Amino acid sequence: MVILSISITEQLVSPDVEALSHKRTTQAGSTVVAYDREDPFYCLDAMCLEWSGNGKGDYRYSPEEIKLPNNGFVSDFVYESHEIKAGFVPMKELPCAQGKEDECQSVLITLREKACNVTLTLVYTVYKKANCITRRVILENNEDSPLIIRRLLSMSMDMPNMGFSLTTFDGDWAREAHRHDRLLQPGIFINDSRTGSSSNKHNPGFLLSEKNADNSKGRVYGFNLVYSGNHFGFAELNSHELVRVGIGINPHCFEWTLKKGDNFETPEAVMTFSEDGFNGLSKNFHSFVNDNIVPKDWQGKDRPVLYNSWEPCFFKFNQGKLLSLARLSKKMGMELFVLDDGWFEGRNDDNAGLGDYSTNRKKFPFGLGRFAKKIRKMGMEFGIWFEPEMINENSNLFRAHPEYAVSQPGIESTLGRNQLVLDLCNPLVRDYIVDSVGKVLDETKASYVKWDMNRHISEFWSAHSRAGEFFHRYILGLYDILGRIFKTRPHILLESCSSGGNRFDLGMLCFSPQVWTSDCTDPALRLDIQGGLSHLYPQSTMGAHVSDSPHQQTLRNTPLSTRYNVSCFGCLGYELDLRFLTPAEKSEIKDQIAFYKTHRKTFQYGTFERLPVVSSRLENKSVWRCSSKDNKETIAGFFQTQAGVGEEADTLRIPGLESAATYRVTTRPQKLYIRRFGGLVKHLLPVTLNPDGFILRTANRFYSLLDCVENYECKGSALAAGILLNNQFTGRHYNNNTRLLGDYGSSIYTITKISS
Ligand code: DGJ
Repeated sequence: MVILSISITEQLVSPDVEALSHKRTTQAGSTVVAYDREDPFYCLDAMCLEWSGNGKGDYRYSPEEIKLPNNGFVSDFVYESHEIKAGFVPMKELPCAQGKEDECQSVLITLREKACNVTLTLVYTVYKKANCITRRVILENNEDSPLIIRRLLSMSMDMPNMGFSLTTFDGDWAREAHRHDRLLQPGIFINDSRTGSSSNKHNPGFLLSEKNADNSKGRVYGFNLVYSGNHFGFAELNSHELVRVGIGINPHCFEWTLKKGDNFETPEAVMTFSEDGFNGLSKNFHSFVNDNIVPKDWQGKDRPVLYNSWEPCFFKFNQGKLLSLARLSKKMGMELFVLDDGWFEGRNDDNAGLGDYSTNRKKFPFGLGRFAKKIRKMGMEFGIWFEPEMINENSNLFRAHPEYAVSQPGIESTLGRNQLVLDLCNPLVRDYIVDSVGKVLDETKASYVKWDMNRHISEFWSAHSRAGEFFHRYILGLYDILGRIFKTRPHILLESCSSGGNRFDLGMLCFSPQVWTSDCTDPALRLDIQGGLSHLYPQSTMGAHVSDSPHQQTLRNTPLSTRYNVSCFGCLGYELDLRFLTPAEKSEIKDQIAFYKTHRKTFQYGTFERLPVVSSRLENKSVWRCSSKDNKETIAGFFQTQAGVGEEADTLRIPGLESAATYRVTTRPQKLYIRRFGGLVKHLLPVTLNPDGFILRTANRFYSLLDCVENYECKGSALAAGILLNNQFTGRHYNNNTRLLGDYGSSIYTITKISS
């Protein structure tokens, strides 16, 4: 018997099984194969299954491909037993979601292969609050001969097609997680990674939505994987109008040998569903990540406002320069100083040094411990960057142990950012990393680590692994290292990074409460990147920094206010050269940080929604909103990309507040700098001044205009309908009530309940 139709957990508890189950009252066509000789209507290809093997008449993509001990690929796993448990089922080597016994419930269903003594256990855990179900499988070989797994996904789910569209989050370096939607057509669509990590090319998470679903309404299904390596997700529409969805380890170059008595456990898949559109779905995922994925010590905990040395310094710094940056950042209200790349011996550019972790004494003559102490003495926390999975050929480690690098004998190794990957399948390499990183952490008493990984893997081979097991063993090695370093130092805030968001996944989030979202710090592009990721991950996980403009990645100029307005919908940080800011800019940053601290809980843990700007003709405007848990405070960001002329009035529509309650809506005060107006400034002045002359340049350093501040008092019902905002500048008549957004302009509105 093959398990049918609806979710297993529902089958076990619901009286509706018969009504919900897939019917078979006729034959599905003349070429079909009947699973049961006695029942010609029993055709697997036309049925919704909970798991499916191979060679029994189901021609869809199977979640497994196993060369069984009988040397054949035909597999037919049938029900043997099940067990219901309170709580979740811990995993041996992989990270997984966790919840208290009264918050989640598990069911384990054991299937037995009909011809071989091999079992497959389907493990489900239901997380009630987050409305998420996790799934994984455990395959166990009890035959004398080994079996070979060529594919074993974590889950497979079938349902009738509802005109589904498939949404994926794709990109590359510095343009991660852009949302793409397409109608599901007959055939198979694959969302996968083959780079060795979950990748910036295709995030593992993807969604299926029914026709007409939008941000606030309609049925949407979400899938993700608690895994940081090569992933494989697919959606297939077959000839019987059935949709199969699966997700798990990528079968690409995968081959795992399972000897007698051994078992193989897949990573955990996560599924959720909402009838309240994409926002409803992301609320489920956000709650799940915040409460069931990130390490316990960091659940719900404030993330510090940090200063990072990378963009302002790259490799060019010494202790004096860093200390002056730290002093300035402290004055503006920042809480954590992060020393990025370039602090260790030989690391003056990206050609050398990875693998060696002794302090560069030219840069830190008194050692790193003393430097960290000075930072703490200023009243800031100290954080430090590592790239522990990598090695440069020009390093002492490589000279001593060339065999530590991933490479295949007889094949020239290819470089990525001038570096090779360390072989995490090798236990000696893992010990070396745990030891050297641990020593620096203890010496500096760091309370934050940025764990970087800056290249895709090539020549994937190890003397410590069978060829087809390399990719998975690498990730198991990584999890082993992370566990050994950070489970014993739970007070350290780990921010994972892989050239930005090349490894933004639930596996890393089990160790690192936040991820450096992207190397792109241009807020115009961050709208797409953070906006895309927000479908799957909460704001508390996204590192978002204010950087210098023009931006290093795009050469675009953007207002300081917009750089902040986008970054505050995440874990706020600053990554710009504070020494060259004008006094006016310094004071603006101080105000920004004070505002963030006041509303930090709402920004980091509030309920997040992406809202359309209702009346916009052009798709150049968007609104993000997050609301405090008690809904008394909402913060909305209004963002514009390209400015238009004479567009219709902008609307701020905030659904979900109490209709009869009264709210105060206020613009967060922000500054406009004189230089933004260039030559136009002469129209405002009684005398003509050179826009780039001494007087205006000096004025720009010390003075700024206050951007238009709006104040409204209105009912929740009015906000749900959409309040109309002041006009934007249209080329004529500047006054204090005109919103001067221009290209990439934005404003933040706070909406506070003042009476019921
Ligand atoms: C890539 C990261 O994404 C950057 O933020 C920075 O840490 C560099 N690596 C340092 O090499």
